[in-house]
Parts: sequence; C-alpha cells; structure tokens
Amino acid sequence: MTDLQIDTTSPSVARVYDYWLGGKDNFAVDRQAAEQLLKLVPDAVEMCRDNRAFLRRSVEHLAASGIRQFLDIGSGLPTQENVHEVAMRVAPDSRVVYVDNDPIVLVHGRALLATHENTTVIEGDLREPEAIVAAAGAHLDFEQPVAVLLLSIAHFVIDDEELTRIMASLRAAVRPGGYIVMSHAFAGERTGDDTVEAVQEVYAKSAPGGLTPRTRAQISALFEGMELQEPHLVPVNAWRTDQRPDFSKPSTIGVVAKAV
Ligand SMILES: C[S@@+](CC[C@H](N)C(=O)[O-])C[C@H]1O[C@@H](n2cnc3c(N)ncnc32)[C@H](O)[C@@H]1O
Repeated sequence: MTDLQIDTTSPSVARVYDYWLGGKDNFAVDRQAAEQLLKLVPDAVEMCRDNRAFLRRSVEHLAASGIRQFLDIGSGLPTQENVHEVAMRVAPDSRVVYVDNDPIVLVHGRALLATHENTTVIEGDLREPEAIVAAAGAHLDFEQPVAVLLLSIAHFVIDDEELTRIMASLRAAVRPGGYIVMSHAFAGERTGDDTVEAVQEVYAKSAPGGLTPRTRAQISALFEGMELQEPHLVPVNAWRTDQRPDFSKPSTIGVVAKAV
C-alpha cells in the first residue's frame, strides 16, 4: 500500500482524462496539459467519449455472452457508466475488481465504486500483472471465465517488450471462455505527421513517462493464441457500430479477444 501522496505538480493521465470527460477531479497542472494536448489533437475529447462508449458496448456484449467477472486494470476516476453499472444492468450478479496505480483514483474509487458488495477497488500496477491477479483472486475466481479490461492504459507501457511480457502473463491468467478487452492509441496510417512526437513530449511529464501508439500488427500480436471477436481491430467508434473504420487518422483501436 502506498501512502497515497497526490502529486499536484505534474499531470496525471487519470486527471487529464477526467478533465476531458467533464469531471471535477483535476488540478491546474492537468488542465494545462489537457489544453496543450487539445491543440495537438483537437479530437481528444471525442476520442475519450468514443472510448467510454466502446467500454459500454464491449462490457454489455461480454455480460450478454455470459461473463460475470470483470478485472478492470487502469480503471481511472469514476465517471458515468462505470464497468459495474454497465455489467450489472445486464447481469446483476456480476463481480468487478477495479485496479489503478494513481492515488487519486484509489481515493475516489474507494469512495464511489466500492459501494456495492460485488465491486472492489485495489491498488496495482499493470507492470506487475501477477501481483494484480493474485490480489484480484480474493474477489474473483480465476478458474472461471474472467474478462480483463485494459482500456486506454496499455499505451502507457512505453516499452514494447515489457508490454509483450505483461500480455503473456494476463493471457495465461485468463481461462478458456474468458476475454481480454483493449483500447490502444493508434497514430493513424497517414505519413509525415509530427503530432505523435509533440504529444509524447506532453505525456513525458506524466507518471507513466510517455505514451506509445502502436500499429495494428503490434496490437494484434498482443493477442497471440486468442480469438479476436468481430470486427477484430478497428477504431473504437467502429467497433459494432454502423461507422466505417478509418485507419488514416489518429484514433484508439479497440479489440475484444476470447481465450480458447
Ligand atoms: C486514460 S485513463 C483510462 C480510464 C478507463 N480505463 C477508460 O478507458 O475510460 C488511464 C488509467 O490508467 C491508469 N494507469 C496508467 N498506467 C498504469 C499502470 N502502470 N498501472 C495501473 N494503472 C495505470 C491511470 O492512472 C489512469 O487511471
């Protein structure tokens, strides 16, 4: 357990995201970074909303497919339509464990998200997936199917090899019939754009130390041996909607993969 020191001198990715979603749990340093990023990526607010809509659609889909256990890693500050609210609307007996490493998320999360007997908030770092699974094991039965949610977090693992190792560990923890859901920053396939470097400079000041967009092939490789659910890897706004996937511009790629 950390001593929950809240750093208000450097931007927190959870609080920047909260600001974009219209939340109040952010400080001047976060708002400044968020506004700086908006100048570089004017669609950022829309991208966050699209990401939350993907979360809702994918969790509804999994709950309707019979999943009753959710491990939401990098859950972020509580907002509207949190995972347990979405899942329990479909399946009231769903169990949800929220995990984050940002002290402010844990404080607000414990106050707001853990108000239901089937939801829990734990401190954990994605870079230590075995520890997360061990701690979550007090609340979830990993012998039964579990859906691991990695929404807008994996791109904060800057090093490709480290993310490969993390994903191998999580894939091993998910039994057949379980799922891994991911949304991941994607730079777009248009060339000659230096926005990515400018965005990275802003994120370099945050706790993860940067943001690494990955290509479709790199994201796909993270699900080796799993069955990608239709429509496979697409920008989140095109995942089971009537929108046509546009891979040319920066977006967030969404994936729902089943363990077989
Ligand atoms: C952009 S927010 C996404 C929130 C939510 N998953 C969503 O998609 O709406 C990213 C979250 O991941 C958390 N995070 C970043 N790196 C992490 C790590 N290594 N371990 C645990 N949480 C992390 C941040 O604190 C933040 O709350």
